[in-house]
Amino acid sequence: MITLDYANCTAERVGDHGLAADLFSPGSEAWTAAEAITADLARTRGTGWERWRDLALGDTRRAHVSAIVSLVEERRGRFDNLLVLGIGGSALGNLALQSALNPPTYNLLPDDARPGPRVFILDNVDPLLVGATLDYLEQHAGGLERTLVNVISKSGETAETAAQFLILRDRLIRALGKDRHAENVVAITDPEKGTMRSICDDAGYAALPVPDGVGGRFSVLSPVGLFSAAMCGIDIDALLDGAAEMDERCAQPELTSNPAATLATMLVRLGRDKGKPNHILMPYSNAMDLFADWYRQLWAESLGKRETTSGREVHAGYTPIKALGATDQHSQIQLYREGPNDKVIGFIEIERDARDVEIPTGAGVENLRYLEGASLGALLRAEKRATEYALVESGRPNFTIRMPTLDARRVGQFIQLWMVATAYAGRLLDVDAYDQPAVETGKKATFGLMGRAGFESFRRQVDAALAETRFVV
Ligand code: PA5
Repeated sequence: MITLDYANCTAERVGDHGLAADLFSPGSEAWTAAEAITADLARTRGTGWERWRDLALGDTRRAHVSAIVSLVEERRGRFDNLLVLGIGGSALGNLALQSALNPPTYNLLPDDARPGPRVFILDNVDPLLVGATLDYLEQHAGGLERTLVNVISKSGETAETAAQFLILRDRLIRALGKDRHAENVVAITDPEKGTMRSICDDAGYAALPVPDGVGGRFSVLSPVGLFSAAMCGIDIDALLDGAAEMDERCAQPELTSNPAATLATMLVRLGRDKGKPNHILMPYSNAMDLFADWYRQLWAESLGKRETTSGREVHAGYTPIKALGATDQHSQIQLYREGPNDKVIGFIEIERDARDVEIPTGAGVENLRYLEGASLGALLRAEKRATEYALVESGRPNFTIRMPTLDARRVGQFIQLWMVATAYAGRLLDVDAYDQPAVETGKKATFGLMGRAGFESFRRQVDAALAETRFVV
């Protein structure tokens, strides 16, 4: 199992900037609060917007896995490229899974050395990005005929994904004809409603569901994240097994037996009582780097709220920040150690790498002899421990999520840990962790600016708020 080491967040290690150790003792206020939330979450799990909690379990899991596996079996051998279209919660999990569980050189490998097609995940409408990807697919990667387009949108309305999809659909129809192009599309969207749903129904695209009660940032263990993962050879059963194992631990009523309750309690208390509103996640692993992006969305969109659940204006939330060890030791650590003491730094450590690279002996350079015969893995772990020490020395709270090794099961545990911790943090802050009114405002303003009927008032509001200004040099 992966573990959470929070010793460096206690006052014993970092003095006044840390939490009193008795906070984590039976009967403390934090302990009692966590017990109450655990009971409440047991009551609400599997209902409303907490239906994500059961994605790795029972009938929901069986139905999703069987639909995904049969679609993957039917399509995999027929395509050289998988092009995923989506944004936010409909892309970040896909990016993170590929980066964590496939090699960084995956797309460069020859066909017989890859378990699935090359994968491209377009999570933006930057024309240079989209244009270059299309050029590559059309001219150098077998053409769109050999490309499966996986469009993902829960609402089916998001402008970025819709624009990408209109471009791809047009090119597919031109390349393959109207009748044949549907074979090159798999859509993942709401099973009942939305524009994407009706497009699927009209065109006969194969479709998988974004289940009810599963919001974008909680959807990576649904078909949203699992289809592209399975297409590219990732063991989705192991991912779900890991999530189920972690979920069981996160249902424990005792605070210190429950890693999600501990993580949330620690971060909320440090944020609220110790002036630490900046929450950094710094994997010492390039493979886990994109999971820091996934975490940023989860923590930011879920907790950053103007009002409590009863409508009191609070402007809650913490600013999630990503960093990468050891790279950012040479960029950020100066600030983290000597700048404002307003951060909690979370490390991800992989105890045993799937492979290691040894530094040769016999170079004959006296000053570099200490490196000879060591491995890069050992160097990376020493760097992390040194950083931890440097932060503790200057009273900077930090914690470590330790993964025994990097595999699908541990990644599933990691995902469930953060999702359940987010549910706890939402309850501790008394905010709705599942809505995103500010994102919706931006979406509506975009519709207005792009001329969508029914959204004219948003255009007028944008124009009024951003009227011409003299303050430009
Ligand atoms: O977490 C969320 O709800 C958002 O980030 C959405 O995933 C994002 O806005 C994309 O929405 P959709 O899947 O409806 O296209």
